[in-house]
Amino acid sequence: MSSAVISMPGNAAFARGVAAELKLPLVEANVHSFPDAETVVRVSAPPGIDTALVACTLCRPNELVVPLIFLGDTLRDRGLQKLILIAPYLAYMRQDKQFRPDEGISARYFAALLSRYFDALVTVDPHLHRIPELSRVFQIPSRVVHAAPAIAAWIRANVSRPVLVGPDAESRQWVSDVAQLAGAPFTVLQKVREGDYDVSVSLPDAKSWRSRTPVLVDDIISTAVTMEAAIRAILAVDLPAPVCIGVHGIFAGDALARLHSAGASRIITCNSVVHESNGIDLCGPVAEAALQLLQGFA
Ligand code: R5P
Repeated sequence: MSSAVISMPGNAAFARGVAAELKLPLVEANVHSFPDAETVVRVSAPPGIDTALVACTLCRPNELVVPLIFLGDTLRDRGLQKLILIAPYLAYMRQDKQFRPDEGISARYFAALLSRYFDALVTVDPHLHRIPELSRVFQIPSRVVHAAPAIAAWIRANVSRPVLVGPDAESRQWVSDVAQLAGAPFTVLQKVREGDYDVSVSLPDAKSWRSRTPVLVDDIISTAVTMEAAIRAILAVDLPAPVCIGVHGIFAGDALARLHSAGASRIITCNSVVHESNGIDLCGPVAEAALQLLQGFA
């Protein structure tokens, strides 16, 4: 089996990191857009390659997915046998139930679509909440990389006397892991979301944390209203300005500016989505997970 890493546009830095870890060649795919908004994917896989690790984080899924599945078919037409999708951020996982009677369960449909084009998946901390594991919706093998060890290492190196804070009940799984690895206490806020931009949170036990630096940790920063409400709740009880850490920094619209003006002391994300806040590198653990899948195919 001979492999290469192929990066979709915008993923070259992450793909380069993975290729370097695995000592594999890196190929950059090109997506050409025609004036009518149709696209064609161009890729020159090195001769003799039968397996590709395709790097494409899925933070703008609707615009990325058509070129991504075209790449999949293009590679199959070239004779490649196995395609492993490396999607450090996996979109649509929050749409994990029918929230209204007139809508469907996008997480299921998205997973089924990707499963038709790829033979395996590596991703980082997907939003597994009502769907307990990826195998419930993906029909292909998958590996989940946890960002907790890398986040904990960053906290140990950069924050003195941290207390980790999860902005809502769903964040408990990430916050408790990071807290344990960082050797720090943690608490979880209570959140009520009334709409896309309407969130309120409360901090139950503020007094115990006065001498510590709050570190908010969440899996996704999207509109950032969750983090923003958590920052305000922390400052309202006279705790120090918090450090905000997101595994996946989507930062829709003016999200980053609102976090700064709410009073975050620092905003740090992992490089699963390219953003100026990236400070935690996940190429190593993602490459390791991809290697396990490669070995499974050998
Ligand atoms: C939901 O429970 C997630 O863990 C995040 O808290 C949420 O997706 C953040 O979204 P936003 O930044 O739009 O508030």
